[in-house]
Amino acid sequence: MKFPIYDSEAPVLIAPSILAADFSELGAEIKRIEADADFVHIDVMDGLFVPNISFGAPIMESIRDKSDLPFDVHLMIEAPERYLEQFAKAGADGITVHVETSPHLHRTVQAIRELGCAVGVVINPATPLSTLEEILPLVDLVLLMSVNPGFGGQTYIPETTDKIRRLRQMINQTGKPIHIQVDGGVSAANISELWEAGANIFVAGSAVFKSADPAAEIRKMKAQCARS
Ligand code: DX5
Ligand code: ZN
Repeated sequence: MKFPIYDSEAPVLIAPSILAADFSELGAEIKRIEADADFVHIDVMDGLFVPNISFGAPIMESIRDKSDLPFDVHLMIEAPERYLEQFAKAGADGITVHVETSPHLHRTVQAIRELGCAVGVVINPATPLSTLEEILPLVDLVLLMSVNPGFGGQTYIPETTDKIRRLRQMINQTGKPIHIQVDGGVSAANISELWEAGANIFVAGSAVFKSADPAAEIRKMKAQCARS
């Protein structure tokens, strides 16, 4: 259950978001995706940075022993540095913080690393890639929001595809193994275009958990990205 390092030859990775799962039976919901998913994506919202409130570390801890998959924690909260240790102790394998929430991002990134977690940074649709320039060589993952964060079930913002392409070029220039993750409105209908643009980890909430067969949906998404 370790967070994998980016490998350009590796197949596509899928991170179903439990935000779209049935909260009254989270353990069972995770079991349904366990064999086909590559991560469990944990969307934490504080009702301040984003308009919605989801759940915190205690809920995540309660499902930690239900899965051997790495827990990929997306913190949509103000001043995320206050809660890093709590999420690490609750079983996070990777922690991703918004550039917009963290004026001392360098310190925050170091703190995540010191806790033994993979380090991710994320930007909203309106935040330019240039905000990542200095921090890029220090992270394991960049998450591009392809919807405005706060709610599941929104429509993919098409301009994100070109942003993925430009980010992959920036990453190539660093020479470091860095994942590009995309979050929001991803499904089997658009995944192959985003994969070809250079993203390799896909968060999917509604597409997976609102489907009749979540495991089959993940396999379908992966099939769209099979290397020829
Ligand atoms: C949005 C969250 C996403 C969301 C994705 O704020 O960060 O992870 O759950 O949901 P879908 O796949 O339904 O767009
Ligand atoms: Zn997310």
